[in-house]
Amino acid sequence: MRLDRMLVTLGAGSRSEVQRLIRSGAVTVEGSPVRDPSAHVEEKAAVTLNGQRLDTRLSRTVMLYKPAGILTAARDPRQPTVMDLLPDAFRTLGCMPVGRLDKDTTGLLLLTTDGTLAHRLLSPARHVDKRYRATVDGPLGEAEIGAFAAGLTLSDFTAQPALLTVESSSAEKSVALVTVHEGKFHQVRRMFAAVGREVTELHRERFGPLTLDPDLQPGGWRDLTEDEMQALRAAVE
Ligand code: URA
Repeated sequence: MRLDRMLVTLGAGSRSEVQRLIRSGAVTVEGSPVRDPSAHVEEKAAVTLNGQRLDTRLSRTVMLYKPAGILTAARDPRQPTVMDLLPDAFRTLGCMPVGRLDKDTTGLLLLTTDGTLAHRLLSPARHVDKRYRATVDGPLGEAEIGAFAAGLTLSDFTAQPALLTVESSSAEKSVALVTVHEGKFHQVRRMFAAVGREVTELHRERFGPLTLDPDLQPGGWRDLTEDEMQALRAAVE
């Protein structure tokens, strides 16, 4: 790829700004100054700008521990979004959330520059499982487990059968794991509402073959490992 294009993609500035920087000698490739903005450069080449080594990876897939109170959106004029938790360069790289978690839902959110992978992961036909830990008001038991297993009729669609595993249940509050194959708007909250329960906390633990890294804190993120990338691709082949 052209050097100026790479620098724009990495968020170093506008096309004219990076061309000026390159012509001024501020950029080196593999240790040598390169003053030609159209020079060809390989992804992962050693590139420095004003003496600082740039991370030249153009393809990124990361897992983020989404905290509560943050929108899953590329940008929003008023409220913070998940993109604000990542380095600025992720915007120019075109890294996008894979689906959505509600503002108050926490847990595993994938973001990727790979549009094809994202599309496949979200495709209803591929049935990528998502597992949530839900805290609800009121008891949960055989009736709710059966209703989830049968598939719930909501106002605009019938949710496919889902696995509900009750971890604890009392008259005031219950905690359960829910595994769904779909990802419709407010799906888990609406499924519980259909059996008369309100979700007070919702946390995604798993997305397909991936589990939220226990070392991540809310707001933290990391790149997927090569093994995780392979598992993700295999899940949607
Ligand atoms: N289901 C919901 O209701 N909300 C989410 O954020 C994710 C799944």
